[in-house]
Amino acid sequence: MTFIEVETYEELSKKAADIIGAQVILKPNCVLGLATGSSPVGTYQQLIERNKQGTVDFSKVTSVNLDEYVGLDGTNDQSYRYFMDHQLFNFVNIDKEKTHVPNGCAADLKAEGAAYDQMIKDLGGIDLQLLGIGPDGHIGFNEPAPVFTAETHEVALEESTIKANARFFANEDEVPKTAITMGMMSIMQARKILLVANGPAKKDIVEKAFFGPVDPMVPASLLQLHADVTVIYSKN
Ligand code: GLP
Repeated sequence: MTFIEVETYEELSKKAADIIGAQVILKPNCVLGLATGSSPVGTYQQLIERNKQGTVDFSKVTSVNLDEYVGLDGTNDQSYRYFMDHQLFNFVNIDKEKTHVPNGCAADLKAEGAAYDQMIKDLGGIDLQLLGIGPDGHIGFNEPAPVFTAETHEVALEESTIKANARFFANEDEVPKTAITMGMMSIMQARKILLVANGPAKKDIVEKAFFGPVDPMVPASLLQLHADVTVIYSKN
């Protein structure tokens, strides 16, 4: 694991964009695994800038997102599809047809999960997976549990996750109680993993996840077993 500690969110965002930009330059038709949450927003802004300047070209890139709230469709401004469109996709030259987010409104979420995993396999797997980390150590929406779940699956959100994500909704009651998330298999099979964690609020969970034991009750700790992980942590 490469652990990079920086002073500011701007440095974090620039370094993360350097790594993603390099991936796209080295393999223009790569598969990027993308994440939502507030942490990657600065990274996406950097990538938009670089795309405008012509240094990073998304025209051949395919993206697969980690997760989506159950019951929110892409027109809902709290959905992760909406987030990705408005934080990145609408501002770069990516082909929208090649951007994938799990469908949280699928009638059969089990089938949706299986189809999502198959699609990732058919794409040849993920070249670089970007991750944030939740306050309880979740990645995507893989919440603490007695065992790791491999496949894309529906998950009940933890109280702490609902509280943490309530800041994006009108009130806590509006936060969906379940989500569909890529499981640990597709994440761990990504060729490279990049996790961004921002600020003192993430300090304890970053320490636990990357310098403590591997434990499904701290889902991000499994990343310690991956051969090519970079963690960028900003102190402030
Ligand atoms: C959500 C997302 C996660 C993300 C987490 C942390 O729960 N499903 O993928 O890592 O939020 O968000 P933030 O970066 O805003 O702290």
